[in-house]
Amino acid sequence: MKKKLISGVIAVIVCFAASSGFSATTKAKQLDGKALFQKHCAVCHPNGGNIINKNKTLSVKAMKANGVVGVKGIVAKMRNPGPLMNKFDEKTLSNQEAKAIAEYIVKSFK
Ligand code: HEC
Repeated sequence: MKKKLISGVIAVIVCFAASSGFSATTKAKQLDGKALFQKHCAVCHPNGGNIINKNKTLSVKAMKANGVVGVKGIVAKMRNPGPLMNKFDEKTLSNQEAKAIAEYIVKSFK
């Protein structure tokens, strides 16, 4: 009886160790949102501005007024932009890269 309990506990520990090890190795490496932004977006959005349409800057306030909300909203914009903005599909920017850029925008341009 006691033996059974102990082996049960060991099984749980092994499972836990295996699953946490697995998630650590599969965790996406930290991408540099700032560098990606400079490379892909800064031509038209220097310092979070917008050289083509000054009502559509990357400030949280402007984006909110235009219905672009949060990281998800920014990624959606990259995938499906409005007039005169480049389209960034998954071949150009992976979901992780797009998300890293969006996170950089949210925390950098108030
Ligand atoms: C060729 C110039 C150009 C490039 C490059 C560009 N954009 Fe834009 N962006 C625009 C223009 C023009 C608009 C306004 C039109 C629209 O609604 O899409 C815009 C609008 C946006 C908006 C909505 C802002 C608002 O206030 O509504 C977001 C968010 C955005 N861009 C993010 C990005 C990101 C992220 C990148 C890089 C991955 C990028 N843009 C690259 C030109 C560009």
